[in-house]
Amino acid sequence: MTKKTEGGPTRSVKPATRLVTGGRDPFAHHGYVNPPVYHASTLLHQSAEDYLAHRGRYQYGRKLTPTSEALAQAIADLEGPLCAGVALLPSGLAAAALALSSVLQAGDHALVTDNVYEPTRKFCDGILRRNGVTTTYYDPLIGADIAELMRPNTRAVYLESPGSLSFEVQDVPAIAAAAHAGGALVLMDNTWASPLYFRALEKGVDLAIQSGSKYIGGHSDLMLGTVSANHAAWRQVIDTVHGMGLCVGPDDMYFGLRGLRTLGVRLAQHYAAGLKVARWLEARPEVLRVLHPALESHPGHALWKRDYTGASGLFSIVLKPVPQAAVYVFIDELTLFGIGASWGGYESLVIPFDCIGVRTATRWSPGGPTVRFHIGLEDTDDLIGDLERGFAALAAARCT
Ligand SMILES: Cc1ncc(COP(=O)(O)O)c(C=O)c1O
Repeated sequence: MTKKTEGGPTRSVKPATRLVTGGRDPFAHHGYVNPPVYHASTLLHQSAEDYLAHRGRYQYGRKLTPTSEALAQAIADLEGPLCAGVALLPSGLAAAALALSSVLQAGDHALVTDNVYEPTRKFCDGILRRNGVTTTYYDPLIGADIAELMRPNTRAVYLESPGSLSFEVQDVPAIAAAAHAGGALVLMDNTWASPLYFRALEKGVDLAIQSGSKYIGGHSDLMLGTVSANHAAWRQVIDTVHGMGLCVGPDDMYFGLRGLRTLGVRLAQHYAAGLKVARWLEARPEVLRVLHPALESHPGHALWKRDYTGASGLFSIVLKPVPQAAVYVFIDELTLFGIGASWGGYESLVIPFDCIGVRTATRWSPGGPTVRFHIGLEDTDDLIGDLERGFAALAAARCT
């Protein structure tokens, strides 16, 4: 952001500053801090000639407005200099589906991580398969050995790191190098860390996907998805978005932009609070393991330390074996943790989960019942007190 000229910040400022300045040009809008929300479909031209020649920066509300431009620019600034463009989609799942559709066609093969978000797996097994694309799932911890799974027609390697239930940390640069050597593009769901804590494009990813419904929105009131692409992939992405007529409503784009401004402080708090609660859980006698990449005990900790600059508030635990009914008693007893799936808002969440039915390349055998937490912005003492009450209820349920 500059005082008088259009455009985003200079690239040299730090990410927290980019979150505040990206996509803003107050003096293009009478000095108001935030850009106006353009509710727009038709765009008028000054003359028939202008219309026929498609003159002007904007052509139609579906393709580009100052509102979509501001949000895409702000995210691009956060992704860094390798980002050639950011496509906005109506949900995170739409972003994953769009990214895959833009790089694959009939006859192609895709390699997809076995811990992928389940609806993305369904998209691969359903719509992609129907369109003539075959998918092979791979062990998320495969690293450079993915080279052995590459086929002459492998055009896409899809990662999700860490897995959003099971938290395996993938060796992104090693997988990306092997994929590129085999002629494939690399796609990654980067929702957990966001570009603030994991610079996907700089680690070899060509298309970085985010569910903006999570931390970008931050308030559990927004459906949004984004695909950030480098120069190798951007043309395919934006042509597919335009070809399919996809766009996001202006108020939702504004919510995304508004959420982005506070992403830095919110994520720092989710990170600190999440780690504090994770450490507390790790010391509990009822807990077998805590699946949080920032814990030294996590098998992916060294990779996390090498590649990430922070963690979000989402992690899981493996309980020592207890009847599943006792797990539900534990969860139902919690009053500060809502039972809900879509994380990244300001509130804490909890769900029971089991990956057995959604793995085909690896065996899910954690050693006990599994529970996922999202640590929100509440005071951690209150959250820990709530969990203590939950464990007391679990102990009582075991004895009955
Ligand atoms: C890792 C991950 N990716 C993508 C999505 C899909 O995002 P959305 O709910 O915005 O479609 C989710 C939603 O839970 C998710 O957890």
